[in-house]
Amino acid sequence: MKIYLAPMEGITGYVYRNALHNLCNGKIDKYYTPFIAPRPKKGMHDRERRDLLPENNQDVSLVPQILTNSAPDFTNLATEIHELYGYQEINLNLGCPSKTVVSRGKGSGFLSNPKELDHFLMQIFDQRDKKGQQYDISLKTRLGVSDPDEIWNLLSIYEKYPVSELTVHVRVQSDYYKKPARMSYMSEIKNRYPGELAYNGDIFTVENYAKCTDVQEMPLMLGRGVIRNPFLPLMLKGVDVENQEAKERLKVFHKAIYEGYQADMDIVPVIFHMKELWAYIGDVFVEADKARKHLRKAKNRSEYEEAVREMFHHDIDLKKNSALGN
Ligand SMILES: Cc1cc2nc3c(=O)[nH]c(=O)nc-3n(C[C@H](O)[C@H](O)[C@H](O)COP(=O)(O)O)c2cc1C
Repeated sequence: MKIYLAPMEGITGYVYRNALHNLCNGKIDKYYTPFIAPRPKKGMHDRERRDLLPENNQDVSLVPQILTNSAPDFTNLATEIHELYGYQEINLNLGCPSKTVVSRGKGSGFLSNPKELDHFLMQIFDQRDKKGQQYDISLKTRLGVSDPDEIWNLLSIYEKYPVSELTVHVRVQSDYYKKPARMSYMSEIKNRYPGELAYNGDIFTVENYAKCTDVQEMPLMLGRGVIRNPFLPLMLKGVDVENQEAKERLKVFHKAIYEGYQADMDIVPVIFHMKELWAYIGDVFVEADKARKHLRKAKNRSEYEEAVREMFHHDIDLKKNSALGN
């Protein structure tokens, strides 16, 4: 079974990816960058360039993701990323549910306009081939905007193009991340779609994965489940992870991310990003509500570090049910 790290803006940057790669002993098959929105006149942000630099991604197999509904902007950015940094696969974001993105007809907002989407796909594959470029184009889609049965029309569009892999996040835009993933759609999608597929949505524990009969043996793209329990990829691949030893490895993992962020940013955004991470990881700690509250309230370095020490006084339970879903 292949396992991919989902793109998560603000979380799965190169510091996080490298720390996770070490923790999981290279067991994650692909890592997606958070989306990059083209800025045709200004170019990529420095932060986005740093995230793509090969020296910051030495051992991981990285797939940059682009968010746009402009075919020329996609082609120009994909070409730049491929030529400058050598990435072989470029992913298109057709899933982002945020209001500002959707109102501009991008992300999952693009799904409300299948004709334009069809034309866009025709252009980006055409342009890639005309320019003699060799990169693969993969898609990450939701089932639709408001009705999950929109997926059948979308599949009939996707299958017209040489999409290298189609990852389906089995929610519609209006589900955001809250409503349960519509996992049962996957078996019919497998029946109907002739190309390569990957599954995404609500895999939080090994136990919960075992019940997902519709997605067994498919490549899995994991998001919040990995952020919550970074050992999940190992556990899904059958590695037995012992809680006490895992806690020690989690300390090393935390240190790598905390120090990596400090090399990149000021302490205020560092603490902001670390707290975002703890909102997920905190869930595998046992009876740690008070310490989690101290973490949430930490305002500076010393309060943050004290709260982290307090967290690590608690046991962890990697088999615990997730409070984030399922
Ligand atoms: C904080 C956050 C940021 C996200 N950023 C992106 C992104 O940049 N690109 C993208 O395609 N999906 C993004 N997603 C969606 C995830 O990649 C994934 O599809 C979603 O979380 C469902 O998978 P999960 O249930 O395994 O978490 C984001 C989700 C969250 C919660």
